[in-house]
Amino acid sequence: MALDLPDFPWDSLAPLARRAREHPGGIVDLSVGSPVDATPDVVRAALVAATDAHAYPQTMGTPALREAIVRWYARRRGVTLSTPDAVLPTIGSKELVALLPMLLGLGRDDTVVHPRTAYPTYAVGAALIGARAVAEDDPAAWPEGTRLVWLNSPGNPDGAVLGVEGLRTAVARARELGAVIVNDECYAELGWEPERWAHGDSEVPERVPSILAPEVSGNTHAGVLGIYSLSKQSNLAGYRAAFSAGDPAIVGALLEARKHAGLIPPAPVQAAMIAALDDEQHVAEQKERYRARRDALRTALEGAGFRIDRSEAGLYLWASRDEPCWSTVERLAELGILVAPGSFYEGEMSTHVRFALTATDERIAAAASRLTPN
Ligand SMILES: Cc1ncc(COP(=O)(O)O)c(C=O)c1O
Repeated sequence: MALDLPDFPWDSLAPLARRAREHPGGIVDLSVGSPVDATPDVVRAALVAATDAHAYPQTMGTPALREAIVRWYARRRGVTLSTPDAVLPTIGSKELVALLPMLLGLGRDDTVVHPRTAYPTYAVGAALIGARAVAEDDPAAWPEGTRLVWLNSPGNPDGAVLGVEGLRTAVARARELGAVIVNDECYAELGWEPERWAHGDSEVPERVPSILAPEVSGNTHAGVLGIYSLSKQSNLAGYRAAFSAGDPAIVGALLEARKHAGLIPPAPVQAAMIAALDDEQHVAEQKERYRARRDALRTALEGAGFRIDRSEAGLYLWASRDEPCWSTVERLAELGILVAPGSFYEGEMSTHVRFALTATDERIAAAASRLTPN
């Protein structure tokens, strides 16, 4: 007995990883978005101070954590959550992405919509329950009977940002269909080209818009959820720390299901999340590290004949040489640089590859110099 799931994409990269490792200067692995910089001291200290965790943690999160999430939404995302019952911590966000269709009670006859160029876990979540996954960006084309819509702005892998208008249209269409709509916003603090989405209705026009902001979803969060992860902004992917917020009725239903299933973030991690949410300095510092890496890599890639598409926010450069993606991946592996083929995100015909910015300054400089013609 086994679930009918696709092969795990990264397994197919193993032969090219071996080739890249043979490069005399060592591999530059830009194939996954796994942070390489240290978890900030303020977060580690909070974790250490909370290691006496004899009791079961609260599935809904401690009151202090829930309040910290509400404060963070107000400060960083321009979102007012009327009650701490509108938030729910999760064990990283990938589990929620994969389990949400099931936790919402969807089944075989249901349809889940996700972006055309997408993080694969949205479709996996549909596959886990035998539901139909439809890859479609145009809200007008979302089919009748859609129960759940995934947006991912800023996007992985392509770094695309949906502006206020785009989010508004999506929310309106989901409401018309009676579907729950969720924006996976885990790259929201990593906006690079605000002129592309700045909007006069926003309190802070250059902020990457949240689906929960009043200029998007109006004066109610009915049918709407945002999800956010601390993995990237705070370098704590190993802690597994994320959360969801929005419609209190949906959050309440998820809480009930998660209590039954024992999906509880560990108590020390809950304490560390508060420290991460309340400290803005480490987030700003990390963003500047990524900005420098992005600038260096982008310049080298453009010099080497790549076109960078979208990529206005987030942790990746979505690049193309207008050739089949696996050809680009192979040529880069010869240079000792490992990247993810676009086929992982949009099918075998993709002509893009994804460069992650999650490598040390030294490795990014090595990649830039290998890409630069002598
Ligand atoms: C779009 C998107 N959503 C969710 C995740 C999961 O992150 P985590 O489980 O670390 O919160 C990732 C990780 O790369 C991602 O790119």
